[in-house]
Amino acid sequence: MNLNSDSYRLWRNFLTEFYTRMRNKYVIFIICIVALVIIEKENNIISRVSDKLTHRQTQTSEPLSFLNDSSLDDSEMSFNLTQFLDPVQAGQKHILLLATTRTGSSFVGEFFNQLGNNMFYLYEPLWHVERMLSEDSNISSIVYRDVLLSLFLCNFSLLENYISPPPLEHVTPALFRRESSIALCEEQVCTPVQKHVFERFHCRTRRCGPLNFTLATQSCLSKKHRAIKTVRVRQLDSLRLLVEDPRLDIKVIQLVRDPRAVLASRMIAFSSKYQTWKSWAANGEVPIDDEEVKRLQGNCNQIRESAELGLSQPDWLESRYMLVRYEDIARFPMQKAAEMYRFIGIPFTSQAKEWIIKNTHASEVVSGVYSTQKNSSEQVEKWRFSIPFKLAQVVQDVCGPTMELFGYRFVDSEETLVNKSFSLLEEKQFNISYVTDFNL
Ligand SMILES: *[C@@H]1O[C@H](CO)[C@@H](O)[C@H](O)[C@H]1NC(C)=O
Ligand SMILES: *[C@@H]1O[C@H](CO)[C@@H](O)[C@H](O)[C@H]1NC(C)=O
Ligand SMILES: *[C@@H]1O[C@H](CO)[C@@H](O)[C@H](O)[C@H]1NC(C)=O
Ligand SMILES: *[C@@H]1O[C@H](CO)[C@@H](O)[C@H](O)[C@H]1NC(C)=O
Ligand SMILES: *[C@@H]1O[C@H](CO)[C@@H](O)[C@H](O)[C@H]1NC(C)=O
Ligand SMILES: *[C@@H]1O[C@H](CO)[C@@H](O)[C@H](O)[C@H]1NC(C)=O
Ligand SMILES: *[C@@H]1O[C@H](CO)[C@@H](O)[C@H](O)[C@H]1NC(C)=O
Repeated sequence: MNLNSDSYRLWRNFLTEFYTRMRNKYVIFIICIVALVIIEKENNIISRVSDKLTHRQTQTSEPLSFLNDSSLDDSEMSFNLTQFLDPVQAGQKHILLLATTRTGSSFVGEFFNQLGNNMFYLYEPLWHVERMLSEDSNISSIVYRDVLLSLFLCNFSLLENYISPPPLEHVTPALFRRESSIALCEEQVCTPVQKHVFERFHCRTRRCGPLNFTLATQSCLSKKHRAIKTVRVRQLDSLRLLVEDPRLDIKVIQLVRDPRAVLASRMIAFSSKYQTWKSWAANGEVPIDDEEVKRLQGNCNQIRESAELGLSQPDWLESRYMLVRYEDIARFPMQKAAEMYRFIGIPFTSQAKEWIIKNTHASEVVSGVYSTQKNSSEQVEKWRFSIPFKLAQVVQDVCGPTMELFGYRFVDSEETLVNKSFSLLEEKQFNISYVTDFNL
């Protein structure tokens, strides 16, 4: 049989064309395959590939177990030449921005939302799920994971179950913060305005009617990358099955912030929920075994445990986890954004650069509760003047290990707290394991 020389010729032709078209990691990957083909004179690999190919067509969710390489995503391993030549299929990334409230996640989320036509960004879709589920965190973490998975696959039907009132014929006027997603307010997703439908979360860039999920799915599928921001996932390990799903190439970015700043910011943003803390601040006394204090401690521990897990780089998270401090983003937004894009493996578009320049050097400081426009290096220290020293001390007491891990310095007096010459931030580099585009 002449299969070998045929396939040589095929590969050679393919390679020549491919080289001229793109100079990225796939070239090297293809070379590896060609090398394998040459080594295997007996056509073994080729027949195995075609076996797997047919297998693949029937069982799309199962990964190919040969040629193990965790840095390759599912579509690259399917050996479908059409897919190789189709960059939309090939280099697709799924970005999960993991944070807690008041850590600047809306701001950082914009780094992805503003990426341009290649990004499908969703802002807090789990908001709906959290409202529907009871407090049982075991169940919610599973549901969160499954909803995130289906959303990364552009399937909204699971999320629809949690939207209230339920969407009619997959159309809803009630998707939380729809306007925060550029992709959900694009022309293709914009239906005609309906006069008598109240839309709390209406698009700002253009006037649109209720959101049709069929159109949202189409938009999602047409984008190369997908990103979701959430402040609702509590433990990184609850996402293991999501991270391991062969249909995704997930990159998790955990965003953290000084817990003292987070408390100070929450006391302002969620004022009514933090009455207890305010009365403690006024009295100067904090009952250290109060439920509120325990909750704060629990939150800090969960954040720390997630970070410890991510930084320990277990196999399933290898080159998929990055820890970022909000303070560093505020100080060096361009540099940090570039680092994040590099970690993910996507280009830093001029559109995203412009957004960052515009929104971090803006002279006018707008500090609305969910505002993303701020002179970030200025804003990031403001809390030092709004939190009473007593409360900062409580945070230091119960969140100490978390603060140490992230490099947040302790203060021992009111004077130090408000002394801006005293930096509360240790310079700290957290391990980032890039898969540097195969230039290893
Ligand atoms: C490939 O990796 C998976 C999971 O990492 C493992 O279960 C499997 O045994 C590996 N297969 C080969 C051929 O190494
Ligand atoms: C290869 O991928 C393309 C694009 O996803 C698809 O249209 C085509 O059917 C696939 N071919 C095979 C043989 O799987
Ligand atoms: C949640 O799961 C953990 C271990 O999987 C178990 O110990 C705990 O009791 C569960 N909590 C609830 C409320 O079911
Ligand atoms: C979307 O997910 C639901 C289950 O949540 C499933 O029944 C449906 O087939 C999926 N749709 C597509 C197009 O895969
Ligand atoms: C939603 O959009 C799809 C695709 O354009 C369309 O077929 C469907 O009729 C729309 N749904 C409603 C309720 O208008
Ligand atoms: C932003 O804040 C920093 C720190 O206070 C200041 O040095 C800088 O001039 C400000 N930038 C603008 C454009 O206001
Ligand atoms: C503020 O902190 C700096 C640096 O630690 C220190 O040199 C200075 O004396 C402090 N100022 C006051 C008023 O405590």
